[in-house]
Amino acid sequence: MTMKFDAKTWIGRTFADGFGYAESRDNIYVQHPVAEIQKLNVFTPVAYLDHGSVNGYTAETAPILMPNTVGGYLPGPADQPGEAGWPSRGKTIEAALRQGYVVVSAGIRGRTTLNAVGNQIGGAPALLIDMKAAVRWVKANAALLPGRVDRIITNGTSAGGALSALTGASGNDVRYESELQRLGAADEDDSVFAASVYCPIHNLEHADMAYEWQFNGINDFNSFHEVSENGKTTTQAWHGTLSPAQQELSAKLKASFPAYLNSLNLHAPDGTPLSLRADGNGSFLTYLQSLLIASAQHALDIGATVPTEAGFTMRDGKMMAVDWPVYLRYIGRMKSTPAFDSLSLSSPENNEFEDRHFTAFSQQMDSNHSPLAPADLIAAMNPLTAIGSAKTAQHWRIRHGAADRDTSFAIPTILALTLQNRGFSVDFALPWATPHDGDYDLPELFAWIDRLCK
Ligand code: DHB
Repeated sequence: MTMKFDAKTWIGRTFADGFGYAESRDNIYVQHPVAEIQKLNVFTPVAYLDHGSVNGYTAETAPILMPNTVGGYLPGPADQPGEAGWPSRGKTIEAALRQGYVVVSAGIRGRTTLNAVGNQIGGAPALLIDMKAAVRWVKANAALLPGRVDRIITNGTSAGGALSALTGASGNDVRYESELQRLGAADEDDSVFAASVYCPIHNLEHADMAYEWQFNGINDFNSFHEVSENGKTTTQAWHGTLSPAQQELSAKLKASFPAYLNSLNLHAPDGTPLSLRADGNGSFLTYLQSLLIASAQHALDIGATVPTEAGFTMRDGKMMAVDWPVYLRYIGRMKSTPAFDSLSLSSPENNEFEDRHFTAFSQQMDSNHSPLAPADLIAAMNPLTAIGSAKTAQHWRIRHGAADRDTSFAIPTILALTLQNRGFSVDFALPWATPHDGDYDLPELFAWIDRLCK
């Protein structure tokens, strides 16, 4: 199978207002695909096929945006403009084209992907293998495609944010090479220029302890879950209270977080060492609170409301402090304990690891002592393990809503600090009143990309 891009596959299209773009669909990006989903769509402002320019970019200078549609560690199909329902980000693709970007949307295997004979072939680290193979396909076709292959920017939300972070962190990482070769991925560099990351559900093996470090003492949780009845699946509200056994687990998990955090030797951008004492307080918490205070201040500055119940102290129009327990009760706990590595192997993350545990703690607490995924596989799914040792993207934009309870604020903060501390450029914020979501600030995201690429 040739993986060479064929310019005859371009089809011209227009948006309602006449903006012209061209698309090439269903390009198979590996020589030996194992699943139907391993195809990618390319979109370009049509101007680039005829020496034109958009927003100051040309075919020679335009960045290449690679947004993914992965959510819940499920398969993320190749996307297209005009698509509205979850998990599509069709609006992102349309806006990116209007901004002058070339867009490559790759279909990515997920935990429920089956091969032709019905075997599950999308568990960890398949999502990253596919994204790397897609990046390599783009680079292999550099001379045939518009856009700069040294200006590839990944983008994703939640599990898709984890995928964007993994791709950004792990350029050319040898750990993935044999799997890429098995699929017949192009023999190319798979590093990217920049990563845009929204609320990444990553660092899974430390996410349970971080969650309880944050929410311990709040025993009521409220969330959603899927209910299947008469062949129809609906999303319903789900709330409850941690059992006494879960409250005990929460205390144990909380107690194990400071040692992990301290082992990272993180520093604030101003050089302040960030650590936690055994009781969970310390300079890392103060730093995290300063990010929330900055978020509330920004909200205030643009005329948004910061309700009294949120627990902020204000003096002369300046946010001074946040009462951490009050703020946490204000946003509420979403998940029960453990939040990720379920004792009964029932979480999406357990499924991603092919119905195995990924923490020794949950395996021990599980009365069945179900198997633990291999340590090297768990590490291969954590972007932190690649930062600096692989060819890590130089530029990062990380957003995690200040009202997001899907993972602890500590988790994206550790990612941002690790990158900053190793010399990468990071734009990190916790946008006010923003839930678990992505792509809600495209003008700001695009301004960041334009600053880097123009
Ligand atoms: C997603 C959200 C979660 O809370 C989680 O545990 C895993 C994935 C998601 O939206 O992708």
